[in-house]
Amino acid sequence: MTGIDYSQKIPNNVDLSSDKRLQRALEEWQPNYIEWWKSVGPTDFNTNEVYLRTAVSVNADGWAHFGYVKMPEYRWGIFLEPRDAERRIGFGDHEGEAAWQQVPGEYRNWLRRLIVTQADTEPASVEQQRLLGHTAPSLYDLRNLFQVNVEEGRHLWAMVYLLHSYFGRDGREEAEELLQRRSGNPDHPRILGTFNEPCQDWLSFFCFTMFTDRDGKFQLLALAESGFDPLARTCRFMLTEEAHHMFVGQTGVGRVIDRACTLMKEHPGKDVTEFGAIPLELIQRYINFWYSSSTDLYGAEVSSNSANFFAAGLKGRAYEDRYKEHKANEGSMRIERFVDGKLSAEDVAMRNAMNEVLRSEYIKDCEKGVDYWNRITEKHGIDFKFKLPHRRFNRRIGDYAAGRFDFDGNPISEAEWNQKVDQWLPNEKDRAYVKSLMVPCHEKGKFASWISAPLRGINDQPTDFEYVKL
Ligand SMILES: [Fe+2]
Ligand SMILES: [Fe+2]
Repeated sequence: MTGIDYSQKIPNNVDLSSDKRLQRALEEWQPNYIEWWKSVGPTDFNTNEVYLRTAVSVNADGWAHFGYVKMPEYRWGIFLEPRDAERRIGFGDHEGEAAWQQVPGEYRNWLRRLIVTQADTEPASVEQQRLLGHTAPSLYDLRNLFQVNVEEGRHLWAMVYLLHSYFGRDGREEAEELLQRRSGNPDHPRILGTFNEPCQDWLSFFCFTMFTDRDGKFQLLALAESGFDPLARTCRFMLTEEAHHMFVGQTGVGRVIDRACTLMKEHPGKDVTEFGAIPLELIQRYINFWYSSSTDLYGAEVSSNSANFFAAGLKGRAYEDRYKEHKANEGSMRIERFVDGKLSAEDVAMRNAMNEVLRSEYIKDCEKGVDYWNRITEKHGIDFKFKLPHRRFNRRIGDYAAGRFDFDGNPISEAEWNQKVDQWLPNEKDRAYVKSLMVPCHEKGKFASWISAPLRGINDQPTDFEYVKL
């Protein structure tokens, strides 16, 4: 049951051919999707063969097949984890009831909103990254970019399947809208802030896949708990693919750090920019930007929406089974509120604190990535420690958006912020410098001046493998 039917126009493991109406609706959406891919997906490279993985089963091991594919011919399909007929809702007011196979009427709007919000991020990131192929630091990185792109496309398919399949006409309308909004378009932007930020250099891309795709991981973990079973099963399989995106980000930033450290050791006292590498302080500022922006994606610290979603059994906590108690009716979370320009701790009822619960899990996970980067500087004997800024730093959503906070989370005045912001966030000079380094390095086995080669290649191939046939 876990095999995927590739004989169909739309590969799937949901027995799509048995539901002709649904199949027809999705087959009508398919050319619009391809049209979207060609017009705002990766510019050029659509006729090149790329060494990509494609899902061929949803088994934990051996789910992917590697081979050369032209991106527009990638087999985007619909893959859900197999159904567990015994599955019960694991949290909220419906805890212990049988998981829903259909959308519960009273939660229809909330559920649709959750799915659309998740869905919207998928095409958004492809749009954000569309120009990066032209300046890839190696064929290996070019291939990784395209792998991420096609899989974000598949995630869109996954969500559109749910909309078409379970939400009737308004689901189909939402699916159309998903191809209409555009990242960064002032009149018709993507739904969430970070997904409208430009991502036009590779340091941004690596930070994005490290921090923003990691937000995706935690949103998917929370939705993988959903009482609406098809959503849970969809998200579980998406998580399998997501791991590679974060790998690209974490090791990508790591290789930029490694390159700078190598040059610092080879040329003590010299500025690494002389050798076309990126200084560690500058990398830290990019981290600060993408991390703080992605931290916003969890929403306000105190949220009645998040309480509703949890109570209804629609969106749980990441790793819900690690908690002893799944109703979360009692207990609270201590949150530093920021009201009228002052910080003060407040015990917030647990259900209302669900955004903060998820954000805290996310932060813990990000810290592991930072530890990984610090092991690189350590290994080189370079006295520099990367750090995540405080969660209050540079926020646009929630309590802290109302004030200014320094790197360590202390409230500061607007004047002080303006004075110091250039030390904390990428400034014009930083961006111009990074941009100046963005020249393609498309020769087999070669890497741009600002990044080290990876430790190993993809799917046991050597690092000088022809990952993209140009
Ligand atoms: Fe995704
Ligand atoms: Fe992703």
